[in-house]
Amino acid sequence: MANTHKVHFTLNGKGVSVEVEPRELLIHTLREKLAHTGPHIGCETSHCGACTVDVDGMSLKSCTVLTAQCEGAEMLTIEGLEQAGVLHALQQAFHEEHGLQCGYCTPGMITRAYRLLQENPNPSEQEIRYGIAGNLCRCTGYQNIVKAVQSAAKKLAAATA
Ligand code: FES
Ligand code: FES
Repeated sequence: MANTHKVHFTLNGKGVSVEVEPRELLIHTLREKLAHTGPHIGCETSHCGACTVDVDGMSLKSCTVLTAQCEGAEMLTIEGLEQAGVLHALQQAFHEEHGLQCGYCTPGMITRAYRLLQENPNPSEQEIRYGIAGNLCRCTGYQNIVKAVQSAAKKLAAATA
């Protein structure tokens, strides 16, 4: 391949090294080369947030990042949230509170909520709605997503108390 180079980063705790062209978007590297197909693509204008991943402690829309920019990054995707078969509190809460229907927005939504709860462990309803404003959902009307994030926040607070 012409004009490619190797990029190295940590993905869900494992070191990866991947050959990319400079123009390659992170979402395509994750999905097509690294078999992480949880992050989805819902637009071409950086609005929907279905592609959200966590990079170096920030929620990033991976459709708007070049893989070549990720050298040395620490990356987390929805596939890395569950630990040894146990769902993360957010995954469990989305299930219990019916915070998903088609599930297409869910990986991005949960990955964003994961960072939101680290930015603000005890958010108000308004702060949750504002905090997930970069993530669109066509199915749920958002109400149960807010409930799921509230429920996960309580569980996480109880677990660290
Ligand atoms: S795919 Fe829509 S914001 Fe990334
Ligand atoms: S659950 Fe279908 S888009 Fe959110």
